[in-house]
Amino acid sequence: MGILFKDNPDLIVGARRGSPLAVGYGHNENYLGSDSYALKSMTNKISYLEDGEICLLTKDNAEFYNSKGKKINKKILTLSEDSESYEKGDFKTFMQKEIFEQPDTTKSCINEYVDHLRDDINIYNLPWDIQKIDSITLIGCGTAYHACMIAKYWLEELTSLDVVIDIASEFRYKTNKFKKNNLYIFVSQSGETADTFAALELCKKNKMKTLSIVNVVESSIARTSDFVLPIHCGAEIGVASTKAFTGQMLVLYILTLKISFLKKNINKKLFEQKIKELKKLPKLIKTTLSVESDIENISNTFANAKGSMFLGRGFAYPIAMEGALKLKELCYVHAEGYPAGEMKHGPLALIEEGIPVVVLAPRDKYYEKTLSNMQEVISRGAKVLLISNKSKDEISSENVWKTIEVEKTSDELLPFLLTLPLQILAFHSAKNKGYDIDKPRNLAKSVTVE
Ligand code: AGP
Repeated sequence: MGILFKDNPDLIVGARRGSPLAVGYGHNENYLGSDSYALKSMTNKISYLEDGEICLLTKDNAEFYNSKGKKINKKILTLSEDSESYEKGDFKTFMQKEIFEQPDTTKSCINEYVDHLRDDINIYNLPWDIQKIDSITLIGCGTAYHACMIAKYWLEELTSLDVVIDIASEFRYKTNKFKKNNLYIFVSQSGETADTFAALELCKKNKMKTLSIVNVVESSIARTSDFVLPIHCGAEIGVASTKAFTGQMLVLYILTLKISFLKKNINKKLFEQKIKELKKLPKLIKTTLSVESDIENISNTFANAKGSMFLGRGFAYPIAMEGALKLKELCYVHAEGYPAGEMKHGPLALIEEGIPVVVLAPRDKYYEKTLSNMQEVISRGAKVLLISNKSKDEISSENVWKTIEVEKTSDELLPFLLTLPLQILAFHSAKNKGYDIDKPRNLAKSVTVE
């Protein structure tokens, strides 16, 4: 809460309970904001209030009190300089800039975590014995939850761990069985999402092991969890998450590889081979982004549709969910992300002449199955945009409206490439409509209230 006084215009009183609150220090002015993002364009000197604390701000003074009314001193943090992230450069929107930054942001993240000399992963100081951890719960909201969904596939395929995923707003209120050998992983770009933070606090209260994957390292979630793995993608300004999503997936994949190796689920040779493959990813992202013009040409169809569907199996299913979320939030078009194999259990009834359907069918073990699901929607009149990956074999399916192919990579890394055309599709559809791409209606960048 921030309180202004009509008769004392030089005073702001701030008080925190639950949602975060930050104080920024300037020259002859001080600020109160919901998090460091809100203040970063004005100052890089920040203090955070803890629950129950109060601050009194004037233009040249900041005083802090704890919940008992006792005056306290606050640590002043200096935020990292990242001025480029706050400018659009040659782009008209932050979202488009952030989509095209992904070759660089994934490269920086890989450089932070991968030891290029030894083909190892630099995660050494986990505060628990990984051999004693036998299950993982991944928690997030929205796009971050989709990153958790993909990580479940990776962890189940590459480790012996039991893996559960939960939406933070559900986790915080349901009855949970807290197990001491379980690791709780919280995924959040902002690190301030109220539901994710409440789920973390619940785990802390129950003395659980907590790890967070965040973009903002000064955030409440980062400061509260036992261990933090930053995603190193620079500030994300567009409300629709793009480069932070690939960053979240990347850190989750890197962590999966490390755990898998430490637990001896994969041998050294395979571990090194997967790291080598991973190092090629930024270049593949760069090449795949050249699908932009093809997608731009068809975005009109999605922008003007009454509704649309996004289908996939395996790793492609969470990406279908993410693609649908992007279209909903930016273009205000109803979009459903669904496992392709579930269509006949209900949603097939939605398919009518001309409805645009995105089918994600990479050439993985689900390929043939997905193509046959695709034919089921085509035969009922759907206009299918098929997204697959390049291969020497032609796609033999008939009556596909448009086909887009991403670069070739290992099946595990396909989610990184498949997500790019969907980000571009949502962007151009919203642009077609003339909507505010960086600030879609009714949404906020960090959801600091419940
Ligand atoms: C993504 O495009 C959304 N704006 C939204 O779903 C977001 O991912 C969600 O609110 C979680 O945010 P967080 O990563 O900051 O916790």
